[in-house]
Amino acid sequence: MADLSGEICVYILGIETSCDETAAAIYHSERGLVHDAVYSQTLHAEFGGVVPELASRDHIRKLCPMVNELIAEAGIGLGDIGAVAYTSGPGLIGALLVGAGFGYSLARALGIPSYAIHHLEGHLLSPMLADEKPEFPFLCLLVSGGHTCLVDVHGYGDYHLLGQSIDDAVGEAFDKTAKLMGLGYPGGPKLAQLATKGCANINFPKPMLKRGLDFSFSGLKTAVATYIRANPPKNEQEMADIAASFEDTVVEILLHKLQVAQEQSATTNIVVAGGVSANIKLRSKLTDWASANQLKLFVPPLKYCTDNAAMIALAGAMAIKHNAEPDSCLEVTPRKSLFAD
Ligand code: KG4
Ligand code: ZN
Repeated sequence: MADLSGEICVYILGIETSCDETAAAIYHSERGLVHDAVYSQTLHAEFGGVVPELASRDHIRKLCPMVNELIAEAGIGLGDIGAVAYTSGPGLIGALLVGAGFGYSLARALGIPSYAIHHLEGHLLSPMLADEKPEFPFLCLLVSGGHTCLVDVHGYGDYHLLGQSIDDAVGEAFDKTAKLMGLGYPGGPKLAQLATKGCANINFPKPMLKRGLDFSFSGLKTAVATYIRANPPKNEQEMADIAASFEDTVVEILLHKLQVAQEQSATTNIVVAGGVSANIKLRSKLTDWASANQLKLFVPPLKYCTDNAAMIALAGAMAIKHNAEPDSCLEVTPRKSLFAD
């Protein structure tokens, strides 16, 4: 279907199952996001981390009813969907196969194109789900549970890696530190919540702060473990102080690297995305930095920071707009890089 300007105008069904969120979304290529749903799997909590086989089985249980409900809530029928976009990687292979298999098969059955979307591209474009959308080119700090990278984004599909974590991703550092503090799983948001009650009065190391645009977070987690062994927290206030000190250290590292990358690239459009971009302390420091330096900051709406299918459907809409090739076979790529160089 084409609108008056000749642009292709379709409803896109987005599917995301790369880890422990089952998500689906309907996005209209002209009108934007119509409806979306996310189910965060709870069955991993008792194991202290995601169990891949259980994740795949839960996606199988949840995805089909979720899509049926979503389509009904959007007030459309299956026949109105013009394209399917699904996450093809990176992620857990079994979990990816559920969403990709579902999306690919549905598209074949309906006789419509389907698009294999890189999960990180979804995050990178997710600030476009906000009312005020970034324009290319922009500098992106991508901070999730699996990745921490600085990306020079020249245009759609033109992504250049400037720096990345050489060990733990920043979300992983939040989760591991939360776990060793006994805060449970998933720990990042719990640690951030506890940090709001604390005072950042402990000096933790900032590994690789002055060494280029790469990051290292595994030493920081170890530093917290060592501190706790030497100074076992006696009450909740001391726990909160540790959390606040950890969070402050992470925020300072991220901000410093972003600042260096911004000065080097001279890009004034800044995008920060991925699960950790939901961190309120980080968002507030970024806002202060951007306004003090006349930079335009774009972050996703809070509910689209962590894994969701709205960003995957949006990436599908971008693929269509830029005449990207639909997929020609079902393939998932658990480790594929987003960057050509
Ligand atoms: O993007 P995401 O949902 O999944 C991946 O692609 O990895 O990111 C999840 C990560 C987890 O490590 C989680 O602890 C972290 O994002 N996270 C947070 C917050 N909310 C989620 N970390 C710090 N503060 C938060 N408020
Ligand atoms: Zn993600």
